[in-house]
Amino acid sequence: MSAERQLVRVGVIGAGLMGREVASAFGRWFALLDCPVTPELRAVCDVNAAALDWFRQVPTVRHFDTDHRALLARADIDVVYVAVPHDLHEALYLDVVRSGKDLFAEKPFGIDLAAAVRIRDEARRLGRFVRVSSEFPFLPGARRAFKMASAAQLGRLLEVRSAFLHSSDLDPSKPINWKRRSAQCGEAGVMNDLGLHVAHLPLRLGWRPTLVHAHLQKVYTTRPDGKGGTAPCDTWDNAVLHTTVTLGGEPVPMTLEMKRMAPTETNTWIFEALGTEAGFRYSTKEPKTFWTYRRGKEQTWEKTDLGFDTAFRTITGSIFEPGFPDILMQMWAAFLAERQGVLGERFGCATPDEAVAHHELWAAALESHRLQSVVALRG
Ligand SMILES: NC(=O)c1ccc[n+]([C@@H]2O[C@H](COP(=O)([O-])OP(=O)(O)OC[C@H]3O[C@@H](n4cnc5c(N)ncnc54)[C@H](O)[C@@H]3O)[C@@H](O)[C@H]2O)c1
Repeated sequence: MSAERQLVRVGVIGAGLMGREVASAFGRWFALLDCPVTPELRAVCDVNAAALDWFRQVPTVRHFDTDHRALLARADIDVVYVAVPHDLHEALYLDVVRSGKDLFAEKPFGIDLAAAVRIRDEARRLGRFVRVSSEFPFLPGARRAFKMASAAQLGRLLEVRSAFLHSSDLDPSKPINWKRRSAQCGEAGVMNDLGLHVAHLPLRLGWRPTLVHAHLQKVYTTRPDGKGGTAPCDTWDNAVLHTTVTLGGEPVPMTLEMKRMAPTETNTWIFEALGTEAGFRYSTKEPKTFWTYRRGKEQTWEKTDLGFDTAFRTITGSIFEPGFPDILMQMWAAFLAERQGVLGERFGCATPDEAVAHHELWAAALESHRLQSVVALRG
């Protein structure tokens, strides 16, 4: 590790599932060999004081707050990561950027399109560095796919599929939580929850839909409330968007799938594109397998075993398999490096403009469902 690594002091607001993952990523930062920035988790905030207790084992944490304004008033914090329910994104993100600190926001970056636009515009006005959490593009398979697609190796694009699938909601006895309530998750439901994972790479590649036809499903309308009763469960569970991307004046079908009720799946991220010259298929179901074909007299799928091919080098041997904690760390390295102006050619985290663009898609999908029709978007 170089002694010149820049130290960045981070505060976390929202000490839930994702807040703890960030602490864990920072805790083994020494595994990164060439990241020019080192984060230090200094402060944690949660309205639920009990949620802070887990962080007492993290030696760098000095401040434990139950009001986010107390954390934002601290002088020894440079960057704030916020991981709270979607209905709180706008107020808290605006408070962060107005406090003079930079923001690593969680998806979907506001409960809806209007909120996302307001956050983006205020951060831009204030000149704050803001990015949005989306870790799957940091997987070796996603990196390989992005490289093939952006190097124009596919020829004329024939079709694209991007999907994020899990099955945890199939169990009707699973108690309600905020992600299953529209008031907190947002009217877009599963699209707010899983959508950036699905839209991020297509948007970065310039595959921006011009037409959307959405199939939205609500399956269970009530769930146990965890207190012996039942509660309304009013979010969209599954969303399949049949979209058209216009490339070189030609329409290309692209399917975007976000499902909480996909039998057999446990957080399966899928990205596939077929072109006239070549194509790829990648799924976290087979995390080290990358499928490709190239046009020939006959076409055959070739299977490549991927190793630990990450943008920032690590101590981990190149033959091993990366997982969720590794890509979260890579994503944070990209965020910190880009903030420092030293990202270079590496893939950068999702931008506020991309977050706004993904909300535009979900707004069009809701409209498509309401009208039971195809909705046009600007290309
Ligand atoms: N990038 C990913 O892979 C990924 C995965 C899961 C969740 N998320 C996103 O992370 C965010 C949080 O999701 P989660 O699963 O961690 O939720 P969670 O319910 O596990 O945690 C949210 C925490 O926020 C706290 N909180 C609520 N209001 C607060 C306030 N005003 N101030 C401080 N803390 C407050 C809650 O007490 C809770 O501890 C959401 O935006 C979600 O979409 C991202």
